[in-house]
Amino acid sequence: MNILVTGGAGYVGSVEAQELVKRHHTVVVLDNLSQGHREAIISEANFVQADLRDTQALDNIFRQYKIEAVMHMAAETVVLHSTSDPQRFFQNNVVGSINLLDGMLNNHVNIIIFSSSAAVYGEHNDSPLEEEACKVPMNAYGDSKLIFEGILSRYGEAYGLKYICLRYFNAAGATERLGEDHRPETHLIPTVLKAAMTGSPVTIFGADYATSDGTCVRDFVHVEDIGRAHLLALEKAVEFSGRAFNLGNQRGYSVLEVVNKAEEITRVNIQLKLSNRRPGDPAVLVASSARARQDLGWEPKLSGLGTILSSAWDWIQKHSNGYDS
Ligand code: UFG
Repeated sequence: MNILVTGGAGYVGSVEAQELVKRHHTVVVLDNLSQGHREAIISEANFVQADLRDTQALDNIFRQYKIEAVMHMAAETVVLHSTSDPQRFFQNNVVGSINLLDGMLNNHVNIIIFSSSAAVYGEHNDSPLEEEACKVPMNAYGDSKLIFEGILSRYGEAYGLKYICLRYFNAAGATERLGEDHRPETHLIPTVLKAAMTGSPVTIFGADYATSDGTCVRDFVHVEDIGRAHLLALEKAVEFSGRAFNLGNQRGYSVLEVVNKAEEITRVNIQLKLSNRRPGDPAVLVASSARARQDLGWEPKLSGLGTILSSAWDWIQKHSNGYDS
C-alpha cells in the first residue's frame, strides 16, 4: 500500500516507517522537522517537509503519491508544555489533524490509524485501565487526543472513514538504528540513561504519591511493539473501525524502580534530586491491553523493563549527542 506517515521523522513515527518498509509498503513521511530529525527518516521512504497546517501541501501529497492509508503520529507530545501552552497543542494536534482528515476526504483516502495516548484517561484508582474507563484528561495534551478521537468518530459516522485509535502508554526503548531524541529531553528513560552517562542528577518529580514508593507508576511499552501494533491495526482497520486499543504491558514500574533497573544495566550509581510534583502527571497509568491482544492479535515481544532499558542504553551509547541533524 501507499502509506502516509505523519511525524515519520519522530521517535515512534520513524520506527513505524521502518516497520512498514520491511513489509514492502511504499512510505511517504510528512514531518515539519520541528521535533523530528532528518537522520531518523529511513532512506527507503519518500520525504516531504511540511506542516499539517499547510493544506495545499497535504493535498499535493495525497495526489502525487496516491496515498491509500494514513498513520497519524505527528503531534505535540510533551505533557508539561501542554499545561503552559495549550494553544500550541490544540493548533497542532486538533486543527492540524482536521486538515489531515479533510485532505483524506478530498482525495478519497479512507483509512487512518491514529496515535492516541494514555493521557486521555487522567487520574484513576482502578488499574489496569480498560478502554472503557472514564476519560478525564489532566492536561491539554490528553484533551487534544480525546477531542480528535471524537472527531474521528463523527467523520466515521458521516463519511464512512475507517479508523483505529491506538492509545500508547509510555513508549520507550530503541531499535538498532532508531531511538529517542527530544530536545529538550523530558522523558524519564532517556533522562535517566543520560544521567548515567554524564553523572548529572535525575530530578524525581514527586515522591509523595499514593504508590508503593511514593513516585509515579508508568507502563513502558517498547517502540517496536508499538510499531507492530500499527501494522496489525492497518490490516484490521475495516473490521475494527471505530475502536480504541490500549498499548501497554499491563505492568507498572515506579520512577524509582526505573532508576534502579537503569543502575543495574548501566552499572552506574545515578544521583537523584527530589523535587515537587510535575503539573499534569497522574499517579498511576497502567494499561489493560487485553483488547489489543484479542482483537488485533498483538503480542508484545520486548515487554520487560530490562529489555526496554537495555535497547535504549545501547542506542544512547552510540548517539551520546542524539541524532546529528
Ligand atoms: N519523571 C521524573 N523525572 C524526569 C522525567 C520524568 O520524575 O526527569 C517522571 C514524571 O514525573 C512521570 C514519569 O517520570 O511521573 C514519566 O514521565 P515521562 O515524561 O517519561 O512520561 P509521561 O508519563 O509524562 O508521558 C508519557 C508520554 C506522553 C503520554 C503519557 C501518558 O510522553 O506522550 O506518557 O500520560 F501521553
